[in-house]
Amino acid sequence: MARGFELFFAISLLLALLGLCKGSTIGVCYGRNADDLPTPDKVAQLVKQHNIKYLRIYDSNIQVLKAFANTGVELMIGIPNSDLLPFAQFQSNADSWLKNSILPYYPAAKITYITVGAEVTESTDNSSSLVVPAMQNVFTALKKAGLHKRIKVSSTHSLGVLSRSFPPSAGAFNSSHAHFLKPLLEFLADNQSPFMIDIYPYYAYRDSPNNVSLDYALFQSSSEVIDPNTGLLYTNMFDAQIDSIYFALMALNFRTIKIMVTETGWPSKGSPKEKAATPDNAQIYNTNLIRHVINDSGTPAKRGEELDVYIFSLFNENRKPGLESERNWGLFYPDQTSVYNLDFSGKGVVDMTDSNVTSLNGTTTTWCIASTKASEADLQNALDWACGPGNVDCSAIQPSQPCYEPDTLLSHASFAINSYYQQNGATDIACSFGGNGVKVDKNPSYDNCVYMTAGANKTAATNTTAISSTPSSSTRNEAIAWVPSFLLMTLLPTLLTLKNL
Ligand SMILES: *[C@@H]1O[C@H](CO)[C@@H](O)[C@H](O)[C@H]1NC(C)=O
Ligand SMILES: *[C@@H]1O[C@H](CO)[C@@H](O)[C@H](O)[C@H]1NC(C)=O
Ligand SMILES: *[C@@H]1O[C@H](CO)[C@@H](O)[C@H](O)[C@H]1NC(C)=O
Ligand SMILES: *[C@@H]1O[C@H](CO)[C@@H](O)[C@H](O)[C@H]1NC(C)=O
Ligand SMILES: *[C@@H]1O[C@H](CO)[C@@H](O)[C@H](O)[C@H]1NC(C)=O
Ligand SMILES: *[C@@H]1O[C@H](CO)[C@@H](O)[C@H](O)[C@H]1NC(C)=O
Ligand SMILES: *[C@@H]1O[C@H](CO)[C@@H](O)[C@H](O)[C@H]1NC(C)=O
Ligand SMILES: *[C@@H]1O[C@H](CO)[C@@H](O)[C@H](O)[C@H]1NC(C)=O
Repeated sequence: MARGFELFFAISLLLALLGLCKGSTIGVCYGRNADDLPTPDKVAQLVKQHNIKYLRIYDSNIQVLKAFANTGVELMIGIPNSDLLPFAQFQSNADSWLKNSILPYYPAAKITYITVGAEVTESTDNSSSLVVPAMQNVFTALKKAGLHKRIKVSSTHSLGVLSRSFPPSAGAFNSSHAHFLKPLLEFLADNQSPFMIDIYPYYAYRDSPNNVSLDYALFQSSSEVIDPNTGLLYTNMFDAQIDSIYFALMALNFRTIKIMVTETGWPSKGSPKEKAATPDNAQIYNTNLIRHVINDSGTPAKRGEELDVYIFSLFNENRKPGLESERNWGLFYPDQTSVYNLDFSGKGVVDMTDSNVTSLNGTTTTWCIASTKASEADLQNALDWACGPGNVDCSAIQPSQPCYEPDTLLSHASFAINSYYQQNGATDIACSFGGNGVKVDKNPSYDNCVYMTAGANKTAATNTTAISSTPSSSTRNEAIAWVPSFLLMTLLPTLLTLKNL
């Protein structure tokens, strides 16, 4: 019996892991060049509340590392340009930094990348000559600690690293950077580290609004730009800029290096001259970006290629110099209210009306819906489970009922998953569904279809014995008569965890 159970558990765990298989990801940059930001502990709550799973910071601040310990949020940490010299000079400096400033907080703080230097081609000092030696010393320190496979070392770049970016196929690195770029690219290729690029269609538009269409920059162009050399069609500038990097890498025969976008975004406010810096445009850019990326659609030159992207930035940063827009890239105000709504699942409907609902008061309502990445089979399993043993009232998704339309598995499963979640304490576990549930803080209700909220109905039982009994006779859906036992395997980890609570 025990053995059988173990096997059962092993298989279900495998299924759960498969379900979590990582596609493209969306993270957020947590810049802290401001004097009015919440404490890192509060920020960690905010990040978790908004289901942000990847975070980039620009240093290795201990308070931040501590605040994100055991949150599950993956961290990209950084070594600022101003600190490169000691890292480049002596291996022992990198060793002691790792030992004293990182390892005490690792792996509780889930660090997966270290960026050594940032946009060194933009800096006026020596950074570019220091960056590769510093990267090598950090890598060697990680290797001594046995962590070089778990924590990747790279460095971020601006598009200024190229001398040419249009058409994308003509993308080429500026040869005046060759002295550090060549060893840098060799380092990345040798260690399977990504090339990190910060991409800003906003600046391209702002700086030449006559040559660049706003729609093209915002992912909503109805026309295409053709690359005359390759015949590839571009519908947005983001893809074109990424492909210019691909072609620049290919021109130097670095075909295996992947690209990661370590910053992109759109400001919500600017100086009078920066007319495109509005909350509407910022919301459109980031919403379309997320939809574009999590679809795993890739770019025209690399169809279907996964892409990890970080949105700049978490907060408006009042200490940043420069034009008004520089201080207004945030998704959140320092008081933690949203500047505009953004759905990290890439599914939600854009709605400006309830921007400020997400104040962090510990009582914010959340919903749990089906992941757009879930397979049909996973969605069906989740639906069958929730409406069967899960004791959810699924009458609203029956024909002619308010939540029947749209008649898709995704929509029906979302409704059922949410009801299950709300009836079972609205805990993360109740939203798990083998990795197919996604928490959202935007009400998914539409028209007359009302999604349940916490506390609305407490009648459901979270009793693990339910899996061995026949579904409750109150099951409303005739089509979903019974849940085949194999379907339960994907849910077993959830149930086991529930039991252990
Ligand atoms: C630049 O680096 C060289 C050695 O790499 C050093 O001698 C020089 O002082 C540095 N200059 C600045 C401005 O840091
Ligand atoms: C290449 O880089 C050098 C040094 O930063 C700069 O002066 C030059 O304008 C760049 N060339 C192009 C075509 O961007
Ligand atoms: C932008 O358009 C102007 C003319 O409208 C042209 O002179 C200029 O070269 C263009 N700039 C770029 C970067 O294509
Ligand atoms: C997502 O991918 C599908 C097929 O791969 C495609 O039809 C759809 O247009 C894509 N959506 C977006 C927003 O790119
Ligand atoms: C949201 O809150 C900010 C600051 O608290 C305020 O300036 C803004 O007007 C609010 N937006 C809406 C739509 O209420
Ligand atoms: C939550 O909101 C209530 C009423 O608006 C307020 O009294 C309370 O202090 C808030 N709690 C926190 C933790 O901010
Ligand atoms: C709670 O559930 C019961 C039985 O499933 C149902 O009759 C009742 O209408 C529900 N109440 C609410 C507020 O949804
Ligand atoms: C689960 O159901 C069994 C049998 O109905 C009951 O004895 C047990 O107390 C229930 N457990 C919980 C946590 O409700």
